[in-house]
Amino acid sequence: MSTPHLAAVIVLAAGEGTRMRSATPKVLHRIGGRSLLGHALAAARATVPEHLAVVVRHERDRVAAHVAELDPEALVVDQDEVPGTGRATECALAVLPADLDGTVLVTYGDVPLLSGETLHALIEDHSATGSAVTVITAHLEDPSGYGRILRAADGSVEGIVEQKDATEQQLGIREINSGIYAFDGRTLRSALAEVGRDNAQGEKYLTDVLAIANRSGGRVSAHLIDDLWQTEGVNDRVQLARLGRELNRRTTERWMRDGVTIVDPQTTWIDTDVTIGRDTTIRPGTQLLGATTVGSNAVIGPDTTLTDTEVGDGAEVRRTEALLAVIGPEATVGPFSYLRPGTTLGRKGKIGGFVETKNATIGEGAKVPHLTYAGDATIGEGANIGAGTIFANYDGVAKNHTTVGRHSFVGSDSVLVAPVDIADGAYVAAGSTVVADVEPGQIAVARGRQRNVDGWVARRRAGTRTAQAAEAATAVAASPDGQRAGRHPDEVAEGQARR
Ligand code: UD1
Ligand code: MG
Repeated sequence: MSTPHLAAVIVLAAGEGTRMRSATPKVLHRIGGRSLLGHALAAARATVPEHLAVVVRHERDRVAAHVAELDPEALVVDQDEVPGTGRATECALAVLPADLDGTVLVTYGDVPLLSGETLHALIEDHSATGSAVTVITAHLEDPSGYGRILRAADGSVEGIVEQKDATEQQLGIREINSGIYAFDGRTLRSALAEVGRDNAQGEKYLTDVLAIANRSGGRVSAHLIDDLWQTEGVNDRVQLARLGRELNRRTTERWMRDGVTIVDPQTTWIDTDVTIGRDTTIRPGTQLLGATTVGSNAVIGPDTTLTDTEVGDGAEVRRTEALLAVIGPEATVGPFSYLRPGTTLGRKGKIGGFVETKNATIGEGAKVPHLTYAGDATIGEGANIGAGTIFANYDGVAKNHTTVGRHSFVGSDSVLVAPVDIADGAYVAAGSTVVADVEPGQIAVARGRQRNVDGWVARRRAGTRTAQAAEAATAVAASPDGQRAGRHPDEVAEGQARR
């Protein structure tokens, strides 16, 4: 069955959301790396409507700016001071073309788990039954707070009554209004014109459209779903966390079904927009966030957080924090590595323990294995950076760049003071502070020359255990059988002290 023409989706997002107790508008709170409104817009877009309108009022500028960023084609509509879901919908219709024809969906900006597939099913059901209105409903154990679905003796839907307006008997109804509907556009427009505000909340209720459509002979249907999560809205932060966990459960399950091993889905958090290749293993305590992409056959975690990071096929990333980084195929990172924005690690490269990188391009097979800060650096293929090397990129005013050439070798505990170039095929001796360029084939030795002062310990540290050890070692070295006995100098010293 082909999906019928969808004239518009209207997303209601004007409500205040006071129970969030937040300076941030409710619909901008996030789960799975997207705002609640972002989830709602994605589901709405999946139905390919001709028009997409978002109704705003509370914190309208912030919400409008967010809509413009996420979906520039969407129409932002301001609700006036008349309250209620019916008024919000009416305000949207007022800015949509007057001759709007076909189906109009209404959804909420704070119902993040509603899927595009469910909306598709709603549209198809709505058109197959030739209904004027179709409402998504669900059976709840505890329906309190929701509008209740009123059905006639023959099962047809007659209307919706709000909790606050319901009779004792109506409160016993467990079929609830999700607030998600498909309308015939013309019916919606004409019925809304008839809706008043004579109810417990003094609001213009969208729900009243159903009874009006029913009375005027239109068919009103219910599209009952049993996946209750899809109709659940966020009202407070407890629900935010609840729905966030369920979204994550769905996301991790989707990736497992797609061939990704997730050792512990409970402690693995994967944002909605992340992609992961087959046969990759995600170990416990891992968060893959934002626009992160992971190739196939990679191993990520444990305890790793990757944000907007790209990981190549076959890479291994353990106990690492990375943001806006690129980790090449078969590269290894961690444990305890910190990759900051602009880090690019080449194929089979290595960033090891207690290494921090920023704006650093590390070539194929190059290694930065231990205890290093590499900021504003280009490290050529096959180069090796010794333990404890610091790329001193900041002179207190500006950040400067350092280059280490192909197959060059930087000895441990060196400081490369930027800007400085170490050419291809060059060496830096351990413990050097390099302030001038090094040419191909050279070794730079930039440290004090070693000087050994004879007898210093005996003169300046007389009577200490160090002096005794020195004395013993000297005696052993001097005696003909000292070396053969092979005793540790300490034991010799003790023996002498006892004598
Ligand atoms: C509404 C329904 C109720 C349903 C419930 C499902 C009405 C009258 N009642 O109740 O039958 O069971 O949703 O969650 O429709 N909004 C606006 N402008 C407004 C008021 C609300 O845009 O003036 C938006 C809110 O931002 C929210 C949505 O509409 O996204 C629902 O508003 P809310 O106040 O939660 O409606 P309920 O009273 O819970
Ligand atoms: Mg509500």
